[in-house]
Amino acid sequence: MAAAAFDGGAVQARQTHYRMSLVDAWQIREGSRVLEIACGQGDMTAVLAEAAGPGGRVTAVDIADPGYGAPVSLGDSAAHLLRSDLGARIEFRFQTDLLDPQVDFPNDAFDVAVLAHGAWYFRDLEQLRQVLRRLRSWAKRLCIAEWSLAPDSIEQVAHMLAVLIQGEIGLRATANEANVRTPFSRERLLVLLDETGWNVSESGSGDTGELQDGSWEVDYCLHDAVSTAASLDLPAGVRAWIASQVELLRELAGRSSARALPSYWVIADRRM
Ligand SMILES: C[S@@+](CC[C@H](N)C(=O)[O-])C[C@H]1O[C@@H](n2cnc3c(N)ncnc32)[C@H](O)[C@@H]1O
Repeated sequence: MAAAAFDGGAVQARQTHYRMSLVDAWQIREGSRVLEIACGQGDMTAVLAEAAGPGGRVTAVDIADPGYGAPVSLGDSAAHLLRSDLGARIEFRFQTDLLDPQVDFPNDAFDVAVLAHGAWYFRDLEQLRQVLRRLRSWAKRLCIAEWSLAPDSIEQVAHMLAVLIQGEIGLRATANEANVRTPFSRERLLVLLDETGWNVSESGSGDTGELQDGSWEVDYCLHDAVSTAASLDLPAGVRAWIASQVELLRELAGRSSARALPSYWVIADRRM
């Protein structure tokens, strides 16, 4: 991954190992045709391409512009992956909105669709609901991984609070694609899957103990949330409530470094 150049590879390796455990749990087989939704910089894309093998294919889509993302943009990260041995198995499609009627695939074009840690970045739950519904014609199996909002330990509470604050801002901001803006509970996802015609056949939890996402999210929230809230036309009470939560987050972050929340994964099969 191109991002490995920024940290000597150690941080990236943890992210990749975590995704390898998800792909194992999802039993992605050699030769699979995979549709990956919200691929971002391609951390999961690379692991899916490895699992799919030389006879498989990963079509990785993201709604964002290839210039989006730091420290490596989506486009630069994709270009790096495409130059690797895995490149021939991958097709990236950026600026691709799966709800655009002009974006389409043949029926059952994919063995499996994957959405890994991308759903909280959707504009809202309605957009997610519509994508889940549309996916039904393209793949009969859907694998999702997301953070759990429920901390297992006190050190994970800061990560939880950071995403709740971003969710509260996300409900009021019009353009905030770069960040978590629609956090939801595991139970909410299960309801959405059921409503959109997917039966969960297997589920489990991911091992997030080595991941740094908790402190990344807290830092991001502490640096960004108050100024984003200040730029919005919010009632004074809402602004003050967000400020109070950010103050609480700062206090928690000062006590210990934030650990990443637990995560969960599901395999869902299309209901006939
Ligand atoms: C955290 S990143 C994804 C991480 C990636 N799946 C991984 O495993 O490393 C979230 C991505 O979701 C994308 N996104 C948000 N809403 C989307 C949508 N409606 N369709 C496709 N991608 C979307 C964002 O542009 C962003 O790149």
